[in-house]
Amino acid sequence: MKRACVIGWPVAHSRSPVIHRYWLKLYGLDGAYEQEAVRPEEIEDFLHSLGQRGYEGANVTLPHKEAALAGADRPDAAATAIGAANTLWLDDKGLLHASNTDAYGFMTHLSAEAPDWNKGKRPVTVLGAGGAARAILHGLLEAGASKILLTNRTEDRAKALAQSFGSRVSLIPWGDRNRALAGCGLLVNATSLGMTGKPPLDLDLSALPLDATVPDIVYSPLQTPLLAAAKARGNRTVDGLGMLLHQAVPGFERWFGVRPEVTPELRAYVAAHLGAS
Ligand SMILES: NC(=O)c1ccc[n+]([C@@H]2O[C@H](COP(=O)([O-])OP(=O)(O)OC[C@H]3O[C@@H](n4cnc5c(N)ncnc54)[C@H](OP(=O)(O)O)[C@@H]3O)[C@@H](O)[C@H]2O)c1
Repeated sequence: MKRACVIGWPVAHSRSPVIHRYWLKLYGLDGAYEQEAVRPEEIEDFLHSLGQRGYEGANVTLPHKEAALAGADRPDAAATAIGAANTLWLDDKGLLHASNTDAYGFMTHLSAEAPDWNKGKRPVTVLGAGGAARAILHGLLEAGASKILLTNRTEDRAKALAQSFGSRVSLIPWGDRNRALAGCGLLVNATSLGMTGKPPLDLDLSALPLDATVPDIVYSPLQTPLLAAAKARGNRTVDGLGMLLHQAVPGFERWFGVRPEVTPELRAYVAAHLGAS
């Protein structure tokens, strides 16, 4: 039996088991997907013993994504550029490979829902400078975004991100975020604002062009206040669940040998688990 797991501290909140166990059952595979709660001081040893523990590989969630990159023998270009890994697999020589599939997940869902998101090469506004924002910046720049306006409450975090991604990223003070919407073709919420239990995102959409697309990577609730407000004024919206589902695809294929599909049935199944509609 092939086995994979998600490693985190804590780990119980992870949605990965719901997705991977759905696929294991759907494709009738002899496999298992488990949860491993690993303390920060134990992560290095755990990664070294992944194979001895019987795992083909793993997903990695907070707070271990940087440690997963540091502990890998073969990080790929995405993990290196993003500075964190969320997907690990062992090769037949026992070398530990690492990738970050968040950018892939975000871009795959965006391209499916809004294939023309970069039409006219208008600026993209990104809110947030945490781990997810870093992956999204990488994905957007790789896909040809010509100008990204980045804004974050803690300016130093945005500065660090802008410095590592180069001249196509410009900083907008958090206090001026409403003005950053004028003329943009894509507005991405990569903060945790709007998530259940977090404060709402305070943003005035008046300056946002009506033909701009608005992805929110928060997936609980599925319809965030930002998405509801954007939809109400006629903007196309993209929710965060698609990113979550698509980012799981490469890992499952590595561990279990089948490239799984993201279908409306999977979406409905995971949405029901999230308690979302
Ligand atoms: N759909 C998906 O597959 C997917 C994948 C990854 C993450 N996510 C979601 O994306 C969100 C961000 O995740 P992350 O890993 O990037 O988290 P993170 O590293 O903790 O970053 C959180 C971001 O939210 C901002 N923020 C938090 N509270 C704020 C407040 N009160 N006012 C203004 N800004 C605030 C932070 O700003 P500061 O820098 O100023 O603190 C930072 O930019 C989470 O809701 C997560 O669930 C979704």
